[in-house]
Amino acid sequence: MEDKKTNVKILAIESSCDETAAAVVVDGRDVRSNVISSQIALHTLYGGVVPEIASRKHIEKINQVVEQALSDAGMTLDDMDAIAVTYGPGLVGALLVGVAEAKAIAYAKKKPLIGVHHIEGHISANYIENKELKPPFLCLVVSGGHTHLVRVQDYGVYEILGKTRDDAAGEAFDKVARAIGLGYPGGPKIEKVSHQGDPLAIPFPKPKVADGPYDFSFSGLKSAVLNYLNGAQMKGEEIVQADVAASFQHAVIEVLVHNAMRAIDEYGMDKFAIAGGVASNQTLRQALEEACKQKGVAFYHPSPILCTDNAAMIGAAAYYEYLTGKRDGLDLNAVPNLKLGER
Ligand code: KG4
Ligand code: ZN
Repeated sequence: MEDKKTNVKILAIESSCDETAAAVVVDGRDVRSNVISSQIALHTLYGGVVPEIASRKHIEKINQVVEQALSDAGMTLDDMDAIAVTYGPGLVGALLVGVAEAKAIAYAKKKPLIGVHHIEGHISANYIENKELKPPFLCLVVSGGHTHLVRVQDYGVYEILGKTRDDAAGEAFDKVARAIGLGYPGGPKIEKVSHQGDPLAIPFPKPKVADGPYDFSFSGLKSAVLNYLNGAQMKGEEIVQADVAASFQHAVIEVLVHNAMRAIDEYGMDKFAIAGGVASNQTLRQALEEACKQKGVAFYHPSPILCTDNAAMIGAAAYYEYLTGKRDGLDLNAVPNLKLGER
């Protein structure tokens, strides 16, 4: 029997970092449920994600989250056409919990299993609320672990034009936030205090990578912030937290916008999307939207709840994998450093 192409119901599971999530998605774009159990409060105590604690918490929550996703959708496992799960990249112990859960369900219910790349999920979050969006488009993926400029040539077909050489954008937000006493997670806190600060108060460097026009490097910028803080402290100068936050955020945004617009020109793209946790930053969004408008390029972004880790995005990506016939065996394993486009 040939697989169906429409009314495809997918149960998706995501546990790559500090969110235990499950969702039911129909035909990749119709989200029937999206349950997210966040561990942020727990990890805040330690100033960052503690992998061992994350794995343990995932184990505690996973069954409950899956049951909730099914019940919110008003469906049962028997209604599902496939079970999808993030199998990389991410924390190995955390990924394993979702992968084991998905495999157990697929085996017990004799359902096809589809392993999904976490970044492919982030990119696919754009399909959910932008029903008209289809490849080809350019996508800037900015999360805690990744900063990628990706040319989405077709569903599941990606060309990575550039990526970070060191820290990811979100990681830089988190580290700078810690340095100026804002705590974890840094991104939303820096964004909030930046509204009270002057983005031009401190001229932090806008790092460019000489031999990679689309590559990023945020570790130098983070060091520049730390040096500024040390210097000011030694000289007994007052440190204005909001100005440091706003100036840092301004430097990150300038680099992201610059590289993205250069790629749009070079590759003649007419659609541009953003994805990942940092994509929920309103100031970044506005800057990108404005830059796209000037070029007559259509700008797409997911809602904040679909930018940070969730399983609906995994269900969206899985549908297009399902259509291409991708199926995984029960030997599917977690791959902590899985590269985009690898099978
Ligand atoms: O995509 P995500 O939930 O997890 C990963 O796959 O990494 O991204 C989390 C990252 C964290 O570094 C967090 O600080 C950052 O996204 N983030 C933000 C904002 N909200 C979350 N960064 C800047 N501004 C925000 N509003
Ligand atoms: Zn993520």
